[in-house]
Amino acid sequence: MNDWLELEKECAECKRCTLWENRKNIVIGRGNKSADFMLIGEAPGEEEDRQGRAFVGKAGQLLSMALSAMGIEDDKYYICNVIKCRPQNNRTPYEEEIESCIQYLDRQIDMVKPKVIVLLGNIAAVSLIKKNIRITQQRGTWDVYKGIPVMMTYHPAALLRDESKKIDMWRDLKNAWKKLQQIV
Ligand code: URA
Repeated sequence: MNDWLELEKECAECKRCTLWENRKNIVIGRGNKSADFMLIGEAPGEEEDRQGRAFVGKAGQLLSMALSAMGIEDDKYYICNVIKCRPQNNRTPYEEEIESCIQYLDRQIDMVKPKVIVLLGNIAAVSLIKKNIRITQQRGTWDVYKGIPVMMTYHPAALLRDESKKIDMWRDLKNAWKKLQQIV
C-alpha cells in the first residue's frame, strides 16, 4: 500500500490517546504532498474537525490569505498539525497526546521532504524543537529539525486576538520563503 494511504488508515484507526473519542473527522493535512515548503500548527479546531481538512477555519483562512498575498498559493505548500484529532473546546493538547501523535507528523515530514519548515505557535515549536521554548521570544529565529531549517513564528490564531503580531508573522513567513528560494 502507498505510504500516504497507510498513514491515513492508521490515523483513522488510531486509539493511542483518547482524542479519537470526540472527533468528527481525523485531520491529516492539506496541500501539495511534494512541496518544498511545509507549515505545522497545533491541532484541528472546530471547523477543521467538521470538514476533516487542516487550517480551513478563521485562523487558517487568515494564514492562506497572507501566504497568497506573498505569491505563495495553496499548491506551493503542505500544511498539517502536530495533533490529528481535535481536543475538546480547543484546549491545549497534553504532553501524552503529543507523544502519541508525533510519529504521524514525523512520517509526514519524511514523505513530503520539505526544504524549509515553518512552525506555527508554541505547541509546534515545543513538540519539535525544545520543551522550554516561548514563541514570543523565539519567533523569527531558525532552528533545525531532521536536518531541515525550521522557522518559528506565531500561530495565526494569535493574530486574531492581537493584530499587532501581524507584521512580525508576515516578516517571518517572508524570510522562510526567501530562505527556500536560496536553497532551491
Ligand atoms: N489551528 C491549528 O493549529 N490547526 C488547524 O488546523 C486549525 C487551527
